[in-house]
Amino acid sequence: MSNPSEAELIHMFKGIPFTTRSSPELLESLDTFDAREDDVLLVSYPKSGTHWLAGVITKLYDTQVTLTSPIEFGDISKLEELNKLSSKRIIPTHLDYNMLPPNFKNKKCKMIYISRNPKDTAVSMYHYYRDNPNLPTVDTWTAFFDLFLKGDVVCGSWFDHFLSWEEHENEKNILFLFYEDMKKDLPKIVREISLFLGLNVSDNDIEDVCKRSSFSEMKSDTEKENSDPSHTVCALTSNRKLIFRKGAVGDWKNHFTPKQNRRFEEIFNEKMKLSKM
Ligand code: A3P
Repeated sequence: MSNPSEAELIHMFKGIPFTTRSSPELLESLDTFDAREDDVLLVSYPKSGTHWLAGVITKLYDTQVTLTSPIEFGDISKLEELNKLSSKRIIPTHLDYNMLPPNFKNKKCKMIYISRNPKDTAVSMYHYYRDNPNLPTVDTWTAFFDLFLKGDVVCGSWFDHFLSWEEHENEKNILFLFYEDMKKDLPKIVREISLFLGLNVSDNDIEDVCKRSSFSEMKSDTEKENSDPSHTVCALTSNRKLIFRKGAVGDWKNHFTPKQNRRFEEIFNEKMKLSKM
């Protein structure tokens, strides 16, 4: 059987490439989504540590919570499906700030944005593209590097995504996190998350959550759960082995040539001129 064509896998919506798993009808109707005050949004550009953060957050609650698939994944029935959930909803999304359903903003829902060094994000995304039949074929790292810098990948430009959210980082209902900080001191970040979510979590519980959220624990859970397709946040694969790849900081050094690094830095400095990053 031949691979599906790019047009079968990707479509553009408001200038941003989405996979065809996000139907145009759903994307059109996101603005009508009825948020609840107690919804928690887990926001990221793809491959920034979404599953890790989701793993931490769901373990912090001792009441029933439902981790949904990303709000933008699915067809028009998705909104109805989310409406029907009676428990507290943890809703992931890769949408940039401007595309977020306005109701989440009006109701001041808590939102956690996780970001990661874009060089590592690019490398992680390259492997994900390469191994995932639901994404267009990329032949080489060099070809993917160009696509990433142009923003010609799912969810568009890393820079635009980050900047759209960074503008709101000081709003009280938004918590900004970095993958690298989680790698450096997970208990500190987990404490920060629990305070932000208003959860009363003991030091022992924090230690336990961190232990159960380590890369090796999450990867081995993966192997147990691999047969259950509902166990990925990313609806582009039911194969969790594709998600838990290396879990390291600085893997970009194994991929970037010195020339690519210089080009990346140039574009980074230009695009991020006004950023505090
Ligand atoms: P790598 O491909 O660099 O290994 P997302 O969940 O947003 O798709 O991000 C996936 C990236 O987060 C992958 O990066 C994955 O290995 C990493 N990751 C997932 N769980 C992790 C954990 N518990 N600790 C560290 N990294 C983790």
